[in-house]
Amino acid sequence: MDKMWSGRFSTSASSLLDQFNASIMYDRKLYREDIDGSLAHAAMLTKQGILNTEEFRQITEGLNQIVSEIESDVFEWNIADEDLHMGIEKRLTAIIGDAGKKLHTARSRNDQVAVDFRRFVIRKNLEIVEALKLLMTEVIVVAEKHTETLIPGMTHLQHAQPINFAFHLAAYLAMFTRDIERFESSAKRNNVSPLGCAALAGTPHDVDRNMTASILGFDSVSINCLDTVSDRDFALEILFNIATMMMHISRLSEELVMWSSYEFGFVELSDAYSTGSSIMPQKKNPDVPELLRGKTGRVYGSLMGLLTVMKGLPLAYNKDTQEDKEGVFDAVETAEISLEILKEAIKTMEVKSHNMESACAVGHLSATDLADYLVEKCDIPFREAHFITGRAVAKGEELKTDLSAMDFKYLKEIDERINEDVMEYLGLRHSMNARTSQGGTATQRTKEQLQYYKNYLQGNKE
Ligand code: ARG
Repeated sequence: MDKMWSGRFSTSASSLLDQFNASIMYDRKLYREDIDGSLAHAAMLTKQGILNTEEFRQITEGLNQIVSEIESDVFEWNIADEDLHMGIEKRLTAIIGDAGKKLHTARSRNDQVAVDFRRFVIRKNLEIVEALKLLMTEVIVVAEKHTETLIPGMTHLQHAQPINFAFHLAAYLAMFTRDIERFESSAKRNNVSPLGCAALAGTPHDVDRNMTASILGFDSVSINCLDTVSDRDFALEILFNIATMMMHISRLSEELVMWSSYEFGFVELSDAYSTGSSIMPQKKNPDVPELLRGKTGRVYGSLMGLLTVMKGLPLAYNKDTQEDKEGVFDAVETAEISLEILKEAIKTMEVKSHNMESACAVGHLSATDLADYLVEKCDIPFREAHFITGRAVAKGEELKTDLSAMDFKYLKEIDERINEDVMEYLGLRHSMNARTSQGGTATQRTKEQLQYYKNYLQGNKE
């Protein structure tokens, strides 16, 4: 019968309950946040005259000792203590005696866990931003070498128009930039202190919530305690942010898997980031992007899991909420390792420019250019130009020749109004470079985009 809450109970908790009820096996990850929160709370109680300075000194020393015990792995995490909050408080009282019993004045585990978890999540949002920036930097390094490398731009996974490889990579830079903005805005929006909300309704003690908020680096103090202790939007947001980022990563991963196949042969992942087969000696498998694609699914599961935990929960705190942490921890770890390994895989992969360019020689990638030529040079309405071009493509199919390599005489046969200068328009590089509209693939435009992202990474968003 040594539970902190045992006063109103007459029989001890069953060990089955201990196992089922406890979160200490995983919430111990929040020990730094928990102890910081306790130190701030104790400092505030002391300033308010609720603790005396001797008690504050003992609490500070005791908590610091606990940090070193945890960090040197001698702290005893006991499942019967239920969660890290009670485990740490119990140990504190064991070390310093009565002063330890005063620490929980004007506080509840409900605001305590909200502080700990919120601060952890805010920190992780910002750490992921840094990891995303490192990934983007490597993507830019590769992209800068390939602003002239042609690659088939696709829609429906069919050859569409020639683009350059850097332009393709820059599409991912755009996605990662939006990801960064989401992580940053979550960190900012949720940087609000729950401490002092106590169980749900505030406290009659004369607490200074602004003081603890500022010690803990929060921008402000929450407005309504009932909401604060039951709010897990911050956890849902990081899950959504990671899920969306992983969705982007999964799309790039899918492309890396395809591009590594014999059929594409656009890239070769380095041996250090590829795996072999236990039976087929020739195999070199792209496990890294495949796993990135797969892990995306697990992250979605965590997002959906927590949304479902929170659905329909009455105010304020309910134990259901304890189920908020493992999915977030798992998603955060997944995000961290995924960003790191994707960065390394990209940095070390071989880009097979020659194969990318040869792939452009089939599929009539410059067909739109022929239609555009007919509009611009022959004053033919686009719809008719589209039809004429369709016939030219059909001729190409019959001759087994790509439009970009077709003999002029066939084009002339299809439509009298076509002149020899059309041949320039049908060239693939010309086609790519013709797309000079803002945000387009022309090498010059692509270079501007890369410059934009370089400035962005240097903190200059203009
Ligand atoms: N371990 C709990 C959690 O993670 C801490 C809050 C417990 N509060 C309570 N009233 N039982 O949610």
